[in-house]
Amino acid sequence: MEAAAKRERDSSPLNIPNSSSGSSAVEFHSGASPSVRTGSWKMLSSQLYEGMSILHPRMDKERDSGLTVIHCDSQYDKGTYSTYMEKEIFEQPNSTERTLKGRVDFDNYKVVLRGIQPYMDEINRCRRMIMIGAGTSFHIAVATRQLIEELTELPVMVELASDFLDREVPVFRDDVCLFISQSGETAATLEALRYCKGREALVMGITNTVNSTLSKETYCGVHANGGVEIGVASTKSFTSQILTLVMFALMMAEDFMKKQGRIKQIIDGLKLLPDQMRTVLELKDTIKEYGREIHEKKSLLIMGRGYQYATCMEGAFKVKEVAYMHSEGILSGELKHGPLALIDEDMPVVMIISSDCTYDKCMNALQQVTARHGRPIILCTEDHDFSAYASKIIKVPKTVDCLQGCVNIIPLQLLAMYLAQHRGHDVDRPRNLVKAVTDDS
Ligand code: M6R
Repeated sequence: MEAAAKRERDSSPLNIPNSSSGSSAVEFHSGASPSVRTGSWKMLSSQLYEGMSILHPRMDKERDSGLTVIHCDSQYDKGTYSTYMEKEIFEQPNSTERTLKGRVDFDNYKVVLRGIQPYMDEINRCRRMIMIGAGTSFHIAVATRQLIEELTELPVMVELASDFLDREVPVFRDDVCLFISQSGETAATLEALRYCKGREALVMGITNTVNSTLSKETYCGVHANGGVEIGVASTKSFTSQILTLVMFALMMAEDFMKKQGRIKQIIDGLKLLPDQMRTVLELKDTIKEYGREIHEKKSLLIMGRGYQYATCMEGAFKVKEVAYMHSEGILSGELKHGPLALIDEDMPVVMIISSDCTYDKCMNALQQVTARHGRPIILCTEDHDFSAYASKIIKVPKTVDCLQGCVNIIPLQLLAMYLAQHRGHDVDRPRNLVKAVTDDS
């Protein structure tokens, strides 16, 4: 009640920082009550974007941001890459560094996200979190739910925006509703945002697009800072938005004594992540060859569990989108409940074997598949030897369980891209798809 009363639910898009009164970035640190609208995450959540408005190159109208517009064409250049998708996959070590920059203090094990800092008390008092998005953004919610549950000890729901609206899900004023959208313009996600706002929940945004509708209409949030993404298939925004939510979870847990060891483990993991991504990208030739070997098949199954279920769903999504090949992300715990019937020596399968608490169960799934003459490509960490089970192995560096998806997704993004190229498709312009779905009919 008190929390809800504290909120001034002003949805006006004109609620922008007053640049003449000094730096809004400084005001974010002031710990001012959210009801005192002295600054706004909507325009600024990192020094990286101070004084800049980033426009999507395909947007022909400039938004009225009140900030200086800098057109920076070179950032839309493909450089030495043949496609934007390839460029954006290979940019991930750098986009990861940008996402973390100025937010994670690796020496003192602290995370500060200024766009949500003034709301932390209220967020910490909520009874439930609901994460809402569409497509890849929904997979980001699935990828991070487990960590948010672990570090906040709150119930967390993940929802597809369209389904959430169809079901008219009950939402209350002590809920925090967290909207995830690369573009910040997806119609269903924005409609769900307005639905939750109408029910007086605290609405938060995670987006990769500064000055988007999502960032204007939410009370607080965080920009992923992954950089402009042009390829229709989301790649670097997937990893950057996951990492933004990981930082959010870390910030939520900072006062829990019992979580300090886990926080340190994850922050140490974040530090190594960009270099681990660079190592994975060196596997490109192997993955291109695996893609060549299966590119004429009709279907590709991608299996895993725990944190890697989201990786499987997202990997399968990429394959469908750009290679126009049927693909399914399967939770290996569900294998015996149906999908096992699909397995034979001809069905291409990627199995993610995680070096975490799901390892034994992943091994069990692997035995189920090989017993049906399945010949999986195994995606595993370097600390295991699976040569007795498969001839095609993709070994990646091991990181903390909740970050492993950011490493594991890269070979799957590459596989989808090479499958598409072997099949003769333009990965930057997949048929029937657009970058932002702004109508919800
Ligand atoms: O911009 P958004 O994240 O809200 O877009 C939602 C989906 O349309 C989007 O994630 C889509 O699934 C990806 N571009 C696919 O790669």
